[in-house]
This record gives sequence, structure tokens and C-alpha cells, in this order.
Amino acid sequence: MQKTTLITGGAGYIGSHTALTLIEAGQHVLILDNLCNSCHESIGRLEHLAHARVDFVEGDIRDTPLLERLFSQYDIDAVVHFAGLKSVANSVCHPLDYYANNVVGTFNLCEVMARFNVFNLVFSSSATVYGEPAHMPIFEDAGTGVPASPYGRSKLMVEQLLADLARSEPRWSIALLRYFNPVGAHESGLIGEDPSGRPNNLLPFLTQVAIGRLPELTVFGNDYPTADGTCVRDYIHVVDLAEGHLKALQVLRRDPGIHTWNLGTGIGYSVLQMIRSFEDVTGVSIAFRFAGRRAGDIAQCWADASKARRELGWYARRNLEQMIQDSWRWQSSNPYGYRPPVELSAAFAH
Ligand code: NAD
Ligand code: UD1
Repeated sequence: MQKTTLITGGAGYIGSHTALTLIEAGQHVLILDNLCNSCHESIGRLEHLAHARVDFVEGDIRDTPLLERLFSQYDIDAVVHFAGLKSVANSVCHPLDYYANNVVGTFNLCEVMARFNVFNLVFSSSATVYGEPAHMPIFEDAGTGVPASPYGRSKLMVEQLLADLARSEPRWSIALLRYFNPVGAHESGLIGEDPSGRPNNLLPFLTQVAIGRLPELTVFGNDYPTADGTCVRDYIHVVDLAEGHLKALQVLRRDPGIHTWNLGTGIGYSVLQMIRSFEDVTGVSIAFRFAGRRAGDIAQCWADASKARRELGWYARRNLEQMIQDSWRWQSSNPYGYRPPVELSAAFAH
């Protein structure tokens, strides 16, 4: 039987790009996703880009019998675990959903993995686990802080759970990948980020203003201690991020233990720089206004990504211009993402 990499949450934004990267590298993948924040269409587009059928199962990581069936049916030797909920604001209103999906879901997955002797795991963590960092750039050994939301705390809890697992059983080989700010899309414009409802993150909000779905961007705070008063972040192209997962899998398969790697570019851009760059790259002007700070935001955050470069041989190759070009290509060729609104679908049907 062919060795298989299970990708949980593989119909979503980062998961779909990573699935494509793994397939292009010759790996056989199986995607498990309950589609709570994604849809079948992304799998269809993935198949189109991969020129192959992709094994996809609709289901939940908390469904133990389903996981057992998949681990029996396929020769799974590694799991790349994206499945989870990710909205900071929503996590404040629905903390139990976040702990159930992110923490209980991961617990369940690890239990089944151990039962089937599968010990290679790549976990989607976040720079949010650093809390409010004292120094920039952020190194992996800076120590974790106090994340500002149930979402952030769920990520930190999972990191701690996985560290305990690795200490308890030497066969575990775990990568904690701390993403900075993923943006961009596949260069084809066929797969990308498709937030449901009003976007929370900067780039999707900006592109939806540019396409005319939203009237203006609100810039949260212009009184931060940064060069222009707006917050600074380390934006990273999603395809670079996907390539980081491939490298992490290669290292895990030969070097057990628990590893933590920052996946960022090491370069910070302010919100105003992002708006100006977007206008320069696309030629589209962005209406915006300043408002007060958003609760939980920190002034600045960017990675020291030298550990990933040293140990994985990985670094982010795509610059801000490519991030913006690819985000804009995705948004302008799919103004309503994967799912046109009902009235548009009806119009297409006639
Ligand atoms: P996404 O919402 O696009 O993808 C997550 C996928 O998981 C979705 O397709 C969703 O349907 C699925 N899912 C959720 N709960 C599930 C469950 N219980 N069982 C099965 N499937 C389930 O999000 P994304 O941006 O691709 O993020 C992927 C991972 O990376 C998440 O764990 C997220 O917390 C983490 N992360 C994302 C960012 C970011 O900015 N996008 C930053 C840091 C970390
Ligand atoms: C947010 C989450 C973080 C999560 C990450 C990826 C918070 C506090 N943090 O990071 O935990 O890991 O997303 O999902 O939500 N901005 C605006 N106007 C907007 C949107 C954003 O000015 O409409 C600003 C924000 O204030 C911030 C920057 O743009 O300074 C980036 O915001 P965003 O894309 O939401 O990412 P983070 O806040 O860095």
C-alpha cells in the first residue's frame, strides 16, 4: 500500500495550498475536512491543479470511529494537522467551540495516531502563542506569553499537550509551526482564502474593498509606537508557508522529537505600508479611515526565521509584491470566493 499523508483541514486556505505542494512533491495525500469553514469546490480546484483525483473524506477529527476507519484503510505515516477554528473574535463569543475543535479535536487525533503507531505530526500553530513579545524579531526560544483570546490559548494548550506527548514517548516526531501572517494565494488564482462573512484579517478586507464588496477599510489605531503609528506584521505568502510544511515533514521523518519553527519572512510592514503597496501593485485605490485600536492587537510582530532556514533549509522566497499580486488575482477572478451568493448562482443557472 502507498504511504499516505493525512491532511486534516485540507479543504481550507492553508491546507489546500499545502496539499498541492505535497502532491507536486510526489506524496499521496488524504484530506479529511468537515467543511465547516470551506467547501467541496476547493477540492475540485485542487484536483484541477494537481491533474489528479484527490482522496477526500468529509468528516470531523472528533469522530473516533471515522479516524479509525481511515487509519485502517490507508497506510498513513504522517499527519499535517490544520483542522480547527481560527477566528479570534468568534472565539471570544464561543470559547467552547474553540476548545472542542482545536484542543479536544487534536487530543482525539493523537490518541488514534498512537493506537495506529503513527507518530509524525505537523501542527499549525501561530505567532499568537508569543503573546506580547518583549523583543523583535521573535525567536522560537523567546518563551510563550499570554495569548489574548480563547483561540490563542487553544493553540498554546495544544502546543503543551504535544510537548508532553513527545516527552512521554520517543517515537513522536512533532513540528510546531508558528505561522506569522499568511496572505496571498496560488499563482493560478484558482485557490485562495475565502472567509465567510465579513473578513477579520487585513488582506482579505483590503481586497474586498478593492473589488467593491466593502465600502472602506478601517485602520485600527494610528497611535502605536511604530514609524507611522499603525501596527507592523510579518506577512508571509501562503505558498511559502506550504513549502515549509513539506520541509518540516522531510525533517520529521528522519529526526524524532519535538521541533518548533517560526514560519515568517523576518520583515515587518505597517498597515499603511500594506495599503500603499496594494495601491502601487494593483493600481486600485483603497478608501480607508482611522479608528481606535482593536482589542488584543499588539504594536508589532515579526519573526526571526533563521532556525527554519538552518534546520529545514527553508526560507520565504516570495516578496510583498507577489503576495499582493496573488491575493488580488484570486480576489478579482473569484469576487465571491468559491461560493457565489445565491442571487448570482441563480443568475448563472439561467
Ligand atoms: P481554514 O478555516 O481555511 O481551514 C481550516 C479547515 O479546517 C477548514 O476547512 C474547516 O472546515 C476545517 N475544520 C475545522 N474544524 C474541523 C473539525 N473539527 N474537523 C474537521 N475539519 C475541521 O483556516 P486556515 O487559515 O487554512 O488555517 C489552518 C490552520 O492554521 C488552523 O488551525 C489555524 O488556526 C492555523 N493558523 C492560521 C492562520 C491564518 O492566518 N490563516 C495563522 C496561524 C495559524
Ligand atoms: C490575527 C489574530 C491572530 C491570528 C492571525 C491569523 C488578532 C488580535 N490576532 O493576527 O491571533 O493568528 O490573525 O489569523 O485578531 N487591521 C486593520 N483593519 C482591518 C483588519 C486588520 O487595521 O480591518 C490591522 C490589525 O489591527 C493588525 C493588522 O491589520 O494590525 C493585521 O491584522 P490581521 O490580519 O487581523 O492579523 P493579526 O491581528 O496580526
